[in-house]
Amino acid sequence: MTDDTATDRTEAAGAPVPLATTAERIADLRERHREAVTEKEARAKEKQGAKGKMTARERIERFVDQGSFVEFDAYVRHRTTAFGMESNRPFGDAVVTGIGTVHGRRVAVYAQDFTTFGGSLGEVAGEKITKIQDYAMKVGVPIVGMLDSGGARIQEGVVALGKYGEIFKRNTAASGVIPQISIVMGPAAGGAVYSPALTDFVVMVDKSSHMFVTGPDVIKTVTGEEVGFEELGGGRAHNTVSGVSHYLAADEDDALDYVRALLAYLPDNNQSEVPAYDHTAERVVSDADRRLNTIIPDSPNQPYDVLAIIETLMDDREFLEVQPLYAPNIVIGFGRLEGRTIGVIANQPNQMAGTLNIEAGEKAARFVRFCDAFSIPILTIVDVPGYLPGTDQEWSGVIRRGAKLLYAYAEATVPMVTVITRKAYGGAYIVMGSKQLGADINIAWPSAEIAVMGGQGAVNILYRNEIKQAEADGHDVAEVRSRLASEYTYNVASPFLAAERGELDGIIEPAETRVMITRAFRALRTKRVQRPERKHGNIPM
Ligand code: HXC
Repeated sequence: MTDDTATDRTEAAGAPVPLATTAERIADLRERHREAVTEKEARAKEKQGAKGKMTARERIERFVDQGSFVEFDAYVRHRTTAFGMESNRPFGDAVVTGIGTVHGRRVAVYAQDFTTFGGSLGEVAGEKITKIQDYAMKVGVPIVGMLDSGGARIQEGVVALGKYGEIFKRNTAASGVIPQISIVMGPAAGGAVYSPALTDFVVMVDKSSHMFVTGPDVIKTVTGEEVGFEELGGGRAHNTVSGVSHYLAADEDDALDYVRALLAYLPDNNQSEVPAYDHTAERVVSDADRRLNTIIPDSPNQPYDVLAIIETLMDDREFLEVQPLYAPNIVIGFGRLEGRTIGVIANQPNQMAGTLNIEAGEKAARFVRFCDAFSIPILTIVDVPGYLPGTDQEWSGVIRRGAKLLYAYAEATVPMVTVITRKAYGGAYIVMGSKQLGADINIAWPSAEIAVMGGQGAVNILYRNEIKQAEADGHDVAEVRSRLASEYTYNVASPFLAAERGELDGIIEPAETRVMITRAFRALRTKRVQRPERKHGNIPM
């Protein structure tokens, strides 16, 4: 027996004593609640507190609006008899579930309770989670799961595995219907990692959360490789290397705050509108806007921080970046225009010169699909010199995996506005929200360069003979190459050529961008696109 053992009144007291009056029944309820919730919570606090962690209930209470949490299934108990489990049947089992509000809007939540059987998932804990998933789908509200679990309950065998299957099936059915968010606050081991993986956003707490399919011991036995928990599956590894996670929280409070902020941008479900806050946009160019006129350096190879542009464009300069530590050569996240959510995708020139690689493509593709599924308009800011070349990229499948972003944009039907600030070369021009893929309004700054490739690359092919001749004549080859490249850029890559052909809807001063895109998204609010019926497409995976 552990501390969590609950007394079964019937067994302890022999035959049940009938309760005669309503007052007695209410007193009995209070007693049972004390045992199931208050006492269990006190024990959980002791155990988690010793590790500097919150309990499952504390996490939920801290997450939802104060006093809004309504718990489900506090009295359930497992039915397992194997391994002497019949003598240890804690109320509520190893997960706390229920509903509450965040910023006054409804949300379904569950939090695994590590202090009960290591938060492991057996039949009853699984039933609690699938019940709250079904509830969220039925009423059309986001679901947030807080994971802290040793995985499938070893004592329950195949029954526990089956429950995971039921959770995964519901995660998939809910994908694109309600927002699903996972906060990993302890271990998530084995197949248990796949529920978070199927959800839209995964937040991990630095140092105290771990996700892996096979742990360090198994890895050592099978492959001989030695690796620690943190290096293998810690928050930093999954935020910087694998891309499994979308935010690395400094601590539990930070994780909960990030998800509260995230929810404020998201609609309840795919049938409801994005949240709209009162915000009247300034309809004239402001001083902050004017600073954009000097943000693009005169040298095309000099980087700048695209976040400065994004912040200038968004209401109150607020931008919630998603996956900031993974593939930082592309920036994704949420902001607002006139109080309404906008999804932003932008090349980041100060990371790998903003080139597209496999990781950046996949990161952006999933984000485009999320925005499209939930009717969040998309702003794309383009400054991309092309795809990252190399055998590593080719052999890792840049063709197959790079196609995901093309597919995502081409499939999207939400309002889309694209702003080209500087380079838009080759396939990267097409993929980054081009008109042909479905963007509605495409504008460029006068600093834009749109061409099959950059000037230097083009000159090597187009003017090969001239360069050889210059070399033979003893001229300064670098100077010749640079002059020819500038001529090429001016004559071929000028945005006015694209505007002449209608590829761009306008060329504007950078300072006018905020006012212009605000008008554009307002004009596009009623956009409707009809697509022929199909079961589903076949996105390259
Ligand atoms: C039952 C479990 C458990 C589990 C932990 N516990 N995991 N009970 N089933 N899966 C219990 C422990 O026995 C212990 O009980 C309590 O939880 C706390 O565990 P500790 O080991 O003391 O905690 P800690 O040292 O922090 O280590 C945490 C841990 C470790 C790293 C998660 O417990 C662990 O490795 N557990 C097993 C992980 C695992 O292999 N799970 C199965 C994965 S396969 P007492 O009574 O002593 O307090 C899987 C398949 C899913 O999940 C497939 C879906 C498709």
